[in-house]
Amino acid sequence: MPVELRTVEASRAEGRRVLVRDDFNVPLDDSGRVADDLRVRAALPTLRHLLERGAKVICCSHLGRPKGRRVDRYSLEPVAAVLGERLGREVAFVDDVAGEEAAGAAAGLGPGRVLLLQNLRFEPGEEANDPAFAGRLAALAELYVDDAFGAAHRAHASVVGVAERLPAYAGFLLAGEVKALSRLLEGPPSPFVAVLGGSKVSDKLAVLSNLLQRVDTLVIGGGMCFTFLAARGHGVGDSLLEPEQVDAVRGLLARAEREGKRVLLPSDVVVADAFAEDAERRTVPASGIEQGWRGLDIGPETAAAFATAVRDAKTVFWNGPMGVFEWAPFAAGTREVAEAVASTGAYTVVGGGDSAAALAQFGLADKVDHLSTGGGASLELLEGRTLPGVAVIPSA
Ligand code: 3PG
Ligand code: MG
Repeated sequence: MPVELRTVEASRAEGRRVLVRDDFNVPLDDSGRVADDLRVRAALPTLRHLLERGAKVICCSHLGRPKGRRVDRYSLEPVAAVLGERLGREVAFVDDVAGEEAAGAAAGLGPGRVLLLQNLRFEPGEEANDPAFAGRLAALAELYVDDAFGAAHRAHASVVGVAERLPAYAGFLLAGEVKALSRLLEGPPSPFVAVLGGSKVSDKLAVLSNLLQRVDTLVIGGGMCFTFLAARGHGVGDSLLEPEQVDAVRGLLARAEREGKRVLLPSDVVVADAFAEDAERRTVPASGIEQGWRGLDIGPETAAAFATAVRDAKTVFWNGPMGVFEWAPFAAGTREVAEAVASTGAYTVVGGGDSAAALAQFGLADKVDHLSTGGGASLELLEGRTLPGVAVIPSA
């Protein structure tokens, strides 16, 4: 994994047309407005760098999963407005990806000007990495800068195909993400504590397996903890459970024991009699969840133990909420872990959309050392896989 990528600083972008692949896949609210601008703000340093040098900047991104056809609610037009505001410059928008209209707009762009193309995934050639589509996209510019860390695990035309056709550089976001996350795989200061939550074990097994050899302590919360509790022989009532993963989890726990790694599972759980914000709830020992009840948060004893592990660490990686934090009655566990991550002296890296949303909800987003803009991408990187979007960028 090349950690030192050739960055935009090495590009001679002055006066040239630069295609910048961003990840503007932002959450939208019910009225179609940008609900969270983290990814827009994260793109600014690279864009400013290019604009200050008089580059002609052509931004492109995907939004949602329209699957190769036009879906109006996934238009990037609202993002152009938000980007313009954050950038303090006008951002022109063209309702075309790589056709004649886009080509015309790109050709007419002046130095220091910004153009945003329509959603890449309106074109079937994007996800297919179709050579003709990649060629048309590349023809819009003279240089390519990839700053879409969140999409670096996708071998799509705008990530891989274009990088093969133009001189390619990493933007500051892509380079910074790869550096911060790679640090976790390269002997970070111990104790190294990884806190994993979220609903599905199946999404996290590969990353758990790769992190296990590097961490001192694994901390498991969220919906996925019930498959762990089941693997330890506990009944989990109506809690989320992936029965087909129990054996794999048992294997992971056995490996942890052989390798002398500590695994912290919940000792108490907040259970509810329905999956509803206003359900009846109580705190019970993790070994005693009855039928008719489901765990929706870790309990207070567990949250305190998890927070202590985080506070005593030198390196912390956190991915995935501890419970249904969007509902106030089940937010306490995630909040306590978030506060511990925010206040520990450790080097802290937080990955994944939900953990980022939780930090934002608690007003703690700027209190961690690295808040990743990539969910799937950060996990795949920590699984030890080479991301296609990283592999195509030359090293520094
Ligand atoms: C993300 O939100 O994780 C990235 O933008 C990638 O989106 P995708 O999972 O639809 O490829
Ligand atoms: Mg710190």
